[in-house]
Amino acid sequence: MRKVLIAGNWKMNKTIAEAGQFADEVKDYKIAVNTELAILAPFTQIASLKEVLADTDIKVGAQNVHFEESGAYTGEISVAMLKELGVDYCIVGHSERREYFNETDDTVNKKLKALIAADIKPILCVGEPLKVRENGLFLPYVGGQVISDLEGLQTDDMEKLVIAYEPIWAIGTGKTATPDDAAMICGLIRGIVEAQFGSAVADSIQILYGGSMKPDNASDLLAKMDIDGGLIGGASLKADSFKALADIAAQN
Ligand code: PGA
Repeated sequence: MRKVLIAGNWKMNKTIAEAGQFADEVKDYKIAVNTELAILAPFTQIASLKEVLADTDIKVGAQNVHFEESGAYTGEISVAMLKELGVDYCIVGHSERREYFNETDDTVNKKLKALIAADIKPILCVGEPLKVRENGLFLPYVGGQVISDLEGLQTDDMEKLVIAYEPIWAIGTGKTATPDDAAMICGLIRGIVEAQFGSAVADSIQILYGGSMKPDNASDLLAKMDIDGGLIGGASLKADSFKALADIAAQN
């Protein structure tokens, strides 16, 4: 049985002090047995979050990493640096990174491999822009991303990976994919994983939905069999709504 993962993507928000306050407000939350919680924070907040949440099962992750081990890459952070901080997860290929920072399927693929080798779980993001949604070609678009991003990965590697379907037109816009739509594409992604890596991997891999998920709409989305959680931006910034999402996840 796949657990439901509620992963808060804080993006470029919160100071260390604000993150500490959030951590204080969630640290006593009792996580249900079927649920996992993670906070994907900016680099500067990871150490203090890990400290405050040390006695909890709330995981802490990063939002980006460089695929090279070390060297002349000013401003970048390596996998070893993340490992030293004890992160559990790292987002890879978020649409904002693809759009504003030239992330390609090739760099995404290299980052996935580097993280998996270090035992940090990547949360691979895929999803189509509005234009592709409108022209109806979103299935081949998202399918193509999945195939390119996972190229060269082995069956064992897939146990350490989470995939998030995030239609770009739904991120931060208040527009959500309908539960049927989101589940259909998460199902397509699962089908691609099955074709490439077999049914055991497809059955166990967590596939999340992301894009304006909040306590109001989470229940209908998480009720879908192929949606195993949420990658949540705006609604993860307040401890109350993060806990409300965790409560909803526990009921699914
Ligand atoms: P949102 O962001 O929940 O604010 O739409 C989701 C994401 O970008 O991961």
